[in-house]
Amino acid sequence: SAAEKGGYDYFMLKEIAEQPKAVADTLLGRIDPSGSLTLDEVRISPSELREVDKVVIVACGTAFHAGLIAKYAIEHWTRIPCEVELASEFRYRDPILDSRSLVIAISQSGETMDTLMALRHAREQGSKVLAICNTNGSTIPRESDAVLYTHAGPEVAVASTKCFLTQLVACYLVALYLGQVRGTKWGDEIQAVIKDLSRISEEVERVLETMEPVRALARTLASKDTVLFLGRHVGYPVALEGALKLKELAYMHAEGFAAGELKHGPIALIEEDVPVVVVVPSSRGRSVLHDKIVSNIQEIRARGARTIVIAEEGDEAVVPYADHLIRIPATPTLLQPLVATVPLQVFACELATARGNEVDQPRNLAKSVTVE
Ligand code: AGP
Repeated sequence: SAAEKGGYDYFMLKEIAEQPKAVADTLLGRIDPSGSLTLDEVRISPSELREVDKVVIVACGTAFHAGLIAKYAIEHWTRIPCEVELASEFRYRDPILDSRSLVIAISQSGETMDTLMALRHAREQGSKVLAICNTNGSTIPRESDAVLYTHAGPEVAVASTKCFLTQLVACYLVALYLGQVRGTKWGDEIQAVIKDLSRISEEVERVLETMEPVRALARTLASKDTVLFLGRHVGYPVALEGALKLKELAYMHAEGFAAGELKHGPIALIEEDVPVVVVVPSSRGRSVLHDKIVSNIQEIRARGARTIVIAEEGDEAVVPYADHLIRIPATPTLLQPLVATVPLQVFACELATARGNEVDQPRNLAKSVTVE
């Protein structure tokens, strides 16, 4: 009913709007006043966590994209090697696991059969399994050694939005906690990131306040056949997520690429007026990545692409090459997906509406996939 949707036309719109609160709720009670993390619910002891020599993340769909981003954070902050795999592939290739592997299963519903089978397999090999989940008491957390709930509240729309953002926050918390427990040399950076994370809800709110031009742009693209998405570093999984949202909701051909891969094939797809969304990494810090993506934007634009550029405030280098510029607040590189994903959700939702599609219940899809 309209009341359940909180005055919005679709649950998806309501859930997009709830993201600042959802993100804040995921952090709630987990950062103590001294600025360190207390993840009491992670019932894997600090000494066991110090023994971990490999992290393996298993998930499907959007949760898998959260896992891809988590890898950058976990490896950077903890120096523990981290693999990310589609749950449906993992189980069937005889993965190398033992009691020192920490397996993280990410699932909104906690009922996804592929993810459940992957975690059962991991536990049979003696690995510890930590679930990141949104649904209290669901099967995946019940069968795991520990669980970190995302506390996003119920997500009704089939397309995952607020749960993706909160999965990211939970992944950052796990990465930072692992770093804290193991006393990595990134101690100072970890403290700074915890501060940045506690401000991120406001940044997400600011992004939401500036989405009208994104909606207007989406409506102009309603008759296109293809939209391409490019990103680098953590912007690459954001590109994949932007493409998945568009497939699910707008039923358009959409593909995400690592920008560095363009010249290895995908650039052949660029033709006159094809929309290409580019997620630009922060212009501070890792400026090498930034410079490289600016030249990618130049390359595709020279070949006729219509460039839709998502770049942080103050990034002037992209301006000459952006047919459409979407500004996001400046954040530390690893946290950028929390703000960069939001315009892509809005974009896909508006395109779906413009094409007359059912936003909350896209064709052929179920909210939770309980078969393998
Ligand atoms: C996201 O928009 C999708 N509907 C889908 O990819 C989903 O993320 C995937 O099926 C995993 O679901 P889960 O998080 O409940 O395990």
